[in-house]
Amino acid sequence: MLVCNTAPACEPVPVYVLVVYVVDLAGGAAMAQAGLMHVVVVFESLFGNTHEVAEAIANGAQTADPTAEVACLRVSEADLELVKTADLLVVGGPTHMHGMTSGLSRKMGLTAEEKKDEEERPEIEPGAEGPGVRDWFADLPRAVKGSQAAAFDTRGDARMAGGAAHGIARRLRRHGYDLVAEPEGFIIEGTEGPLRAGEPDRARAWGANLVQQIAG
Ligand SMILES: Cc1cc2nc3c(=O)[nH]c(=O)nc-3n(C[C@H](O)[C@H](O)[C@H](O)COP(=O)(O)O)c2cc1C
Repeated sequence: MLVCNTAPACEPVPVYVLVVYVVDLAGGAAMAQAGLMHVVVVFESLFGNTHEVAEAIANGAQTADPTAEVACLRVSEADLELVKTADLLVVGGPTHMHGMTSGLSRKMGLTAEEKKDEEERPEIEPGAEGPGVRDWFADLPRAVKGSQAAAFDTRGDARMAGGAAHGIARRLRRHGYDLVAEPEGFIIEGTEGPLRAGEPDRARAWGANLVQQIAG
């Protein structure tokens, strides 16, 4: 909302301008009406692949709407007040044991890496030992009515690979979000990646498409 008061035009000087900008009227939907779209991408990542996908999605969202405010944040950094103002919330994580990660599965992944020779060890993401998406949802407040969201994961290409995105989507729905897309999986090679060729481009296109959908 923008309220401007100016002194009468006939007075030479001074002209006082009062600008009041109400940042959070009723959450995301109000900001969309004000013309400024807020996109927040929240991710969890052990080896960096989901991080790369999250960045690509954020990048695609920004390209689709250059005026949008787009944030791409680890779960440990994703301030819940900021998340509440999002017109579009996108949440993603790696697939562990066919679904969302847990404290145990992250520990298993890290322990397996520690057993490797130093030169074979992949770089571990900051905060990988901390809470994951599952824990983050425990503190997430209920969405403002009309808030929109989407879920993604990274996973292998095996027949029984499973995926974390459906579990993430279910939690988003339970928190009151409307899903704007089917849960999406992005394929990695092996356990530690890298992402399969073409997946970063597909993630960018997916992010752009989400924004185009909610922009109507
Ligand atoms: C403990 C553990 C369990 C895993 N289980 C699965 C699985 O069930 N299905 C699958 O497709 N990938 C599985 N993976 C591979 C992960 O999906 C892969 O490491 C992840 O997508 C990489 O993302 P990140 O680099 O962001 O951590 C597993 C990895 C770990 C460490």
